[in-house]
Amino acid sequence: MDTAVIRRQFIYLLILAIIVIASLIFSSVVQDPIIEYLTRFFKTVNKDEIESTQMSELAAELLKNFFRIARIILWFILVVAIIRFINSLIFGRALRNASSYELTALIRNVVIILLYIIAFFIIFQSQYPNVALAPLFTGSTILGIVVGLALQDTLGNLFAGLALQADQPFQIGDVITIGTKGMGVVESVTWRGVKIRTFQNRLLIIGNSILGKETIEVAPRDNLNARTVFFNTLYTDSPAKTIQVVREAVRQVENVSQKIRPIVRVRNLGDNGIDWEIKYWVEDYAKFNDTDALIRQRVWYAFQRENINFAYPTRTLYIEKEASTESAVETVNAIYERLSNIPFFAPLSDEETEKLADAAHLRIFAPDESIVRQGQPGGSMFVVHKGSVNVNILEDDKPKTINTLREGEFFGEMSLLTGEPRSATVVANEESQIIQIGKFALKTILDDNPNLVKTLSELVEERRALLSQNEEKHLSTTKKQDVKAFKSIRKFFGLN
Ligand code: CMP
Repeated sequence: MDTAVIRRQFIYLLILAIIVIASLIFSSVVQDPIIEYLTRFFKTVNKDEIESTQMSELAAELLKNFFRIARIILWFILVVAIIRFINSLIFGRALRNASSYELTALIRNVVIILLYIIAFFIIFQSQYPNVALAPLFTGSTILGIVVGLALQDTLGNLFAGLALQADQPFQIGDVITIGTKGMGVVESVTWRGVKIRTFQNRLLIIGNSILGKETIEVAPRDNLNARTVFFNTLYTDSPAKTIQVVREAVRQVENVSQKIRPIVRVRNLGDNGIDWEIKYWVEDYAKFNDTDALIRQRVWYAFQRENINFAYPTRTLYIEKEASTESAVETVNAIYERLSNIPFFAPLSDEETEKLADAAHLRIFAPDESIVRQGQPGGSMFVVHKGSVNVNILEDDKPKTINTLREGEFFGEMSLLTGEPRSATVVANEESQIIQIGKFALKTILDDNPNLVKTLSELVEERRALLSQNEEKHLSTTKKQDVKAFKSIRKFFGLN
């Protein structure tokens, strides 16, 4: 606190003390003369000696009591002023320290009440030494009950408040939700109750004793609290793309923690589209409403830019045949384009490539989804149309990537051509579109292009060699397999 303020307060206190002491001196000085005067006055008024003595005694007694009470009040005023001054002197500094503020406030209140009681006790006893106050406080069951009943709620709050302070389940600035009572930012915790400011900027004051019986959900101020925001997309929009777009949009929102990556995940496959949830960690939980809103807004803009659509209750009328024929043609064209740009299929005529494209299928795979699995039988080969894939083999029961194949490269030919189980697991690296070519489609092509069998068997041998480098135990058998590849392909396909 300011020294100027302290000085001013001290001067006030000094003035008050002077006034009080002066009044006290004055009261003790005037008390006896007034009593004397009254005694004389009654004697002159009343001739009857006994009666006048009785009256003057009564009046003197009354006056004495009046002066005593006046002195008690004066002393008490002085005590209150002194305690308040000391209080602001000691606790004024503590107030600045927000974390300990509420604890000191509570302790301060308890100490002040105790000091008042003690001061009253001493002052009262000094004026009425014959009145035994102590038994009144300690021995009187009735007083105890009366006080107890009168202060039931207050004491309940006080002790619940003390328990709350000892436990410290939340602090100022934390956002708490109290059962059904409400939610808001804690503004103060006193011996009486907790004051929270709701998000409608109203104050909610809840007694400590009630608080003790409620379930309280606390979002601590210095903790990274998580929030979830929901949205949905059409079934036609790619989940992998949605995840990437939304995550990027969310990361850039103010008040979203950069320490933990936001999670964007499918919550449900709903009636109108894919239901999503965003889980993010918020820096200042008290502002979560604004942050949630900003996230929704940013998602909207991101969707506009990336051509992703929100789902809403719609009834879309598909003219099934036309639509599917149209998209099928588009797909075949895309496959044709891709296959004709692969050197391996270069020897094929346009007609053959078209036939192959017709028989092939375009499949979509999610990131980390397996396309073929090691050890399983294989009936088709694949060409990466969009995206990329990892070729993994098991080493000590753990997957190890031995190669990455990108657009235009193919895999799955080994098992297809030789009839052996899949030699590796191939996993999509990202959302990938893969062209699948079945055994019979390939057989037709190989029938007419014997040279392709040779190219293919060379590739198979090459890949086998790479595989065996990774699996030493296969080394001895590799050579034999190399020689066999060409023959076994022809045999498997029934080629002459
Ligand atoms: P297949 O054995 O049918 O299934 C797994 C596929 O992974 C395999 O065919 C090959 O196409 C592919 N593959 C295996 N080894 C390698 C490698 N070293 N480099 C690239 N692709 C490979």
